[in-house]
Amino acid sequence: MAEGAASQEEQSPETPDSPSPISSFFSGSGSKQLPQAIIIGVKKGGTRALLEFLRVHPDVRAVGAEPHFFDRSYDKGLAWYRDLMPRTLDGQITMEKTPSYFVTREAPARISAMSKDTKLLVVVRDPVTRAVSDYTQTLSKRPDIPSFESLAFRNRSAGLVDRSWSAIQIGLYAEHLERWLRHFPARQMLFVSGERLVRDPAGELGRVQDFLGLKRIISDKHFYFNQTKGFPCLKKAEGSGRPHCLGKTKGRPHPEIDAQVLRQLRDFYRPFNRKFYQMTGHDFGWDG
Ligand code: A3P
Repeated sequence: MAEGAASQEEQSPETPDSPSPISSFFSGSGSKQLPQAIIIGVKKGGTRALLEFLRVHPDVRAVGAEPHFFDRSYDKGLAWYRDLMPRTLDGQITMEKTPSYFVTREAPARISAMSKDTKLLVVVRDPVTRAVSDYTQTLSKRPDIPSFESLAFRNRSAGLVDRSWSAIQIGLYAEHLERWLRHFPARQMLFVSGERLVRDPAGELGRVQDFLGLKRIISDKHFYFNQTKGFPCLKKAEGSGRPHCLGKTKGRPHPEIDAQVLRQLRDFYRPFNRKFYQMTGHDFGWDG
């Protein structure tokens, strides 16, 4: 795999994975179900924020860590996968998120084989910013990797972008989406704007709750803007009931990238973005 290839998300220590006394009280009841809805991508789009925000809903039960079942552990079988899930009561939705599914060739057919009714959520973000975010994550683990500029191009003066670099490849949303649409009708997919998830989390969560057939419970009242973090945070996290921002690896400063390089990448992505807007019927505003 190319430099900066998909790396497992660092689990934020603040992620409330341990059950609260109240949920432990209920943990004996209910049963484990395969997920009815999955956040399938995209890496660095804002997938952790979406999952953490959705978990506030009393009718959503989600596994915190990324299961990577449909890409790395498919041979373990559906019973193994189901066993990872939290117990649910009637009417509750089981969810998981593994952002690499969106770019995994086998994932659409495999998820459809589990259930063709599975609802799929994709958080998308300007592919240029997403690529820089992806690079920032790799750089934090391996500070000796080459510069962003040198990885992004095969031949920079000729403007030849290196599509095989995973940080670039993941942002070709239209190409990945084509594969999903061979297995799922468009109405079963929801595209969440990563930008709007930061600007107006309650507004984006409204769309998500409607799509999942949930009562609109998560609203503006659940969020506050944390000045220090520079991002919206939860007033009360699921599990702890305390204010909760995402961990240090979410909302990191990005290294400065040459403006000309960013322009070249915007030019490169423009036709793919246009196609993606056409396919989804929504202009995400990345080329404005
Ligand atoms: P950056 O760290 O590059 O800013 P994912 O969870 O899919 O890996 O996405 C990580 C990105 O989520 C972060 O990328 C950040 O911009 C974005 N994000 C969206 N809402 C956020 C929030 N409320 N707190 C922190 N990061 C958030």
